[in-house]
Amino acid sequence: MKHISIAIDGPAGAGKSTLARQVAEKLGYAYVDTGAIYRTIGLFLQICGVSPKDTDGIARLIDEAAIRVEYDEAGAQHMFLNDQDVTAELRTPDLSDYASKISAQPLVREVLLDLQRNLAATRNVVMDGRDIGTVVLPKADVKIFLTASPEVRARRRLLEMQEKGDKKASFEKVLADIRQRDDRDMHRAVAPLKCAHDAVKVDTSDLTLEESAAALLAVIEKRLGL
Ligand code: DC
Repeated sequence: MKHISIAIDGPAGAGKSTLARQVAEKLGYAYVDTGAIYRTIGLFLQICGVSPKDTDGIARLIDEAAIRVEYDEAGAQHMFLNDQDVTAELRTPDLSDYASKISAQPLVREVLLDLQRNLAATRNVVMDGRDIGTVVLPKADVKIFLTASPEVRARRRLLEMQEKGDKKASFEKVLADIRQRDDRDMHRAVAPLKCAHDAVKVDTSDLTLEESAAALLAVIEKRLGL
């Protein structure tokens, strides 16, 4: 049976995960957060103490990381690293930076490719990431490139951090981190972040969350003929 796949790519902070989750729920599809998969392998390599530039070190260690994706009854994605649920440990700024660095390593991307494709082969998915429409699922039924200005993304990220109780975060630092991560994700040699030629671009800079979700659903419904 052919499953439907919806690819949502875009830079950090464009609202991908929140929107992809909402859209998946509405459609009754699984939401696959591929950033969490990169973060899990990042957590493993970080614990091992390997430098993100150390290609040989990564090659030596990577087979020791058993990564598994599971969904609970509520549809939430859980990441398992060597049989331990590490989901709650994945969203630190430190790991954001480290995961972005190791995701430039071709071997890391290669190891994670089958895992992501298998998830889409066995269920209907809304999958978000950087290279879903271009590399992971080039034949996805719908491709969306979600974007927003760096300033808007930094403001949203800062608000999120403040809501979690982070009082020290500054707008300038968050913006600088976002710009640096964009630059790295867009300019790496393998599977860089870019808009697929057949993707629909949605800019959420001037849209509320509700408006963005409605815009996304409109694109999806039109493409799928719903
Ligand atoms: O979406 P995120 O911030 O959780 O992703 C963390 C890092 O993982 C991001 O900076 C780049 C990398 N990544 C990737 O290279 N390809 C993906 N499909 C998803 C994430």
